[in-house]
Amino acid sequence: MDTEQSSPLAGIEQSSPLAGTGLRGLVGDRAAELGGRNRWHQLECDLTDAAAVDRAVAESPAEVVAHFAAFTDLNAAAAQTGDRDGRCYRVNVDGTANLAAACRRHGRYLIHVSTDYVFSGDQEEPYRETDRPDPLDWYSRTKLWAEREVQESGCAFSVLRPSFPFRARYRRKEDLVRKLVGWLAAGRIPPMFEDTLVTPTFVDEFATAVERVAQLRPPDGLFHCAGGSSLSPYDLTVTVARTFGLDAAPAARGRLADYLRDAGRPYPRWLNVSNEHATRVLGVRFSRIEDALATMRDQLALSGELPRTP
Ligand SMILES: NC(=O)c1ccc[n+]([C@@H]2O[C@H](COP(=O)([O-])OP(=O)(O)OC[C@H]3O[C@@H](n4cnc5c(N)ncnc54)[C@H](OP(=O)(O)O)[C@@H]3O)[C@@H](O)[C@H]2O)c1
Repeated sequence: MDTEQSSPLAGIEQSSPLAGTGLRGLVGDRAAELGGRNRWHQLECDLTDAAAVDRAVAESPAEVVAHFAAFTDLNAAAAQTGDRDGRCYRVNVDGTANLAAACRRHGRYLIHVSTDYVFSGDQEEPYRETDRPDPLDWYSRTKLWAEREVQESGCAFSVLRPSFPFRARYRRKEDLVRKLVGWLAAGRIPPMFEDTLVTPTFVDEFATAVERVAQLRPPDGLFHCAGGSSLSPYDLTVTVARTFGLDAAPAARGRLADYLRDAGRPYPRWLNVSNEHATRVLGVRFSRIEDALATMRDQLALSGELPRTP
C-alpha cells in the first residue's frame, strides 16, 4: 500500500462516494485503490444491457460516475471492423450511450475515459483539445463515437483522454512501460520505434485528474490528461533502463515504415499530446517521464518487486 504521503491524491478532499465502471481494469483499479475502495464502488452491470445499466446508476448513492470500462483489445477490435453488432462497438458505443442516458435520467455527472487514439498521429504539433479527431482503426473510431454519445446525451460530463497509461503493479494486463521493464530484465527486446512519439501517462496522476474533475464537475469538459514528456518508444526504453538500473544494450532502434510493411493494422506516428489545458483548469501536475518512472520504481522497491537483470 502507498503511504498517505506518497499518494498523488494528498490534498484532494475525498469524502463523497464515487461510482465507476471498469474498476477492475488497468486504469480504474488504480483510481479505486488510490481513492479508497470503501469510497469507490463498481456499477455491476453489463454495459450493453440498458435496463441493467439504468438500474445500477439509479441504485448508486454516488453523484459522479467515472466510466473506465471499454473493449480495449485492439487486435480483436480490428477483426470486427465495420461490425456494429460486434462486441467492440456494442461495449464502447452502445454501452457508453446506455450509461450516459442513465446519468442524464438520474442527474449524475459522467466522467468518460477516452483515448489519444482518437487522433491519427499525422500531426507533428502536440495534440490539443481543439484539434479535430481522425481515428485510424476500429477501436479508435468506436472510442470517438463513444465521446459523441456522451456529448449528445444531455448529461453533465467531462471527457478525459489519457495516452499510454502505465502503473507500478497490476497482474491482469501489461502496459507499455511494464513490458519494457520485463523485456529489459530478460535481456531480449524487440526493436523499438525511434521515429514515432508517445506521451506515457502515469496512472496515479491520471487518477488525480479524475478526482479533480469529480470535485470541480466542469460543464462539458474535454481534457488531455497525458504525461509530462513526449518521446519515442526507443528513448522511452533507454529512460526505463536507466531508471531501473537495467542494461539498455539489447534495445535496437526500429522504424515505423518497417513495421507497417507487415502489420495488420495502422499505427499512429506522432502521439505527442499537450496536457496544458488539463494542468491549467484542473490544477493537476503531470510529471516528466523521468520523475514518473522514479516514483514507479520506488513503489516497486517498497513492495520488493524491483526487476533485476539475470
Ligand atoms: N490501456 C491503454 O493503453 C489505454 C490507452 C488510452 C486510453 N485507454 C482507455 O482507458 C480506459 C481504461 O482502459 P484499461 O486499459 O484500464 O482497460 P482494461 O484493463 O482492458 O479493462 C477494461 C474494463 O472494462 C470492463 N468491461 C469490458 N466490457 C464490459 C461490459 N460489457 N460491461 C461492463 N464492463 C465491461 C472490464 O470488466 P471486467 O473487469 O469485468 O473484465 C474491465 O474492467 C478505457 O476507456 C480505454 O479505452 C486505455
